Amino acid sequence: MPTVLITGASRGIGREFARQYEAGGWRVIATCRDPAAYDLEGEVFRLDVTDPSGIAALRRELDGEGIDLLINNAGIHGPRDSHLGAIDYGAWEEVLATNVLGPIRVAEIFAELVERSNLKKMVFISSRMGSIGENTSGGSYIYRSSKAGLNMAVASLAIDLYGRGIVCLLFHPGWVRTDMGGASAPIDAATSVAGMRAVIDRARGADNGRFFNYDGKELPW
Ligand SMILES: NC(=O)c1ccc[n+]([C@@H]2O[C@H](COP(=O)([O-])OP(=O)(O)OC[C@H]3O[C@@H](n4cnc5c(N)ncnc54)[C@H](OP(=O)(O)O)[C@@H]3O)[C@@H](O)[C@H]2O)c1
Repeated sequence: MPTVLITGASRGIGREFARQYEAGGWRVIATCRDPAAYDLEGEVFRLDVTDPSGIAALRRELDGEGIDLLINNAGIHGPRDSHLGAIDYGAWEEVLATNVLGPIRVAEIFAELVERSNLKKMVFISSRMGSIGENTSGGSYIYRSSKAGLNMAVASLAIDLYGRGIVCLLFHPGWVRTDMGGASAPIDAATSVAGMRAVIDRARGADNGRFFNYDGKELPW
């Protein structure tokens, strides 16, 4: 039975990953800032991706395990009213800490457990908003730069971990009906996650470091 560890599993896309992998017979290690908020069956651990000592403590707790698939899903958008002339720099730092430093630190600390597994995959939930090539509307300095930063960091990570047999993938999950995506988003979390699971499942070495839409279409950087 393969094992998946998911960050930000309390709601939205992370919770749906947990639900679908559990239904598929995987061992799911769900992680949440508040484990009491997790409303599915199975193992849940406390993890705030901005808390280095908490990440290290969970790594110690899981010592000896293999993690076939590490899903770095946790993320925040930051203030929507932050625009040129009124940029909220404090919020920008918080978003970078959550969306860039958090997933890279989790990947760095858990790489050994992924390396020890059979499947050896790491997934990072990014966004099309982080694509420089697709930025034709401007604005969204905070969220866009955080996901562009994540993309670049994972491009390096994919090269650095490849020799250890680990395949890293970046995803735009689609515009998804969650607390972040809002009620008018065109797709539900079940569709987004089912699409990403299919891509993850068939990913091989040649897919390492690539940036995919949830339906498997490759996206421009
Ligand atoms: N929805 C979309 O349309 C869309 C589009 C592109 C990309 N994405 C990306 O998809 C991912 C999931 O988004 P979503 O739509 O599911 O958002 P969501 O419904 O707002 O859920 C965000 C999740 O991240 C967790 N989280 C936030 N900060 C955290 C931290 N410091 N440590 C651990 N967990 C933390 C939240 O936990 P709490 O419950 O504790 O707050 C929650 O479980 C994000 O990376 C997001 O940027 C979403």
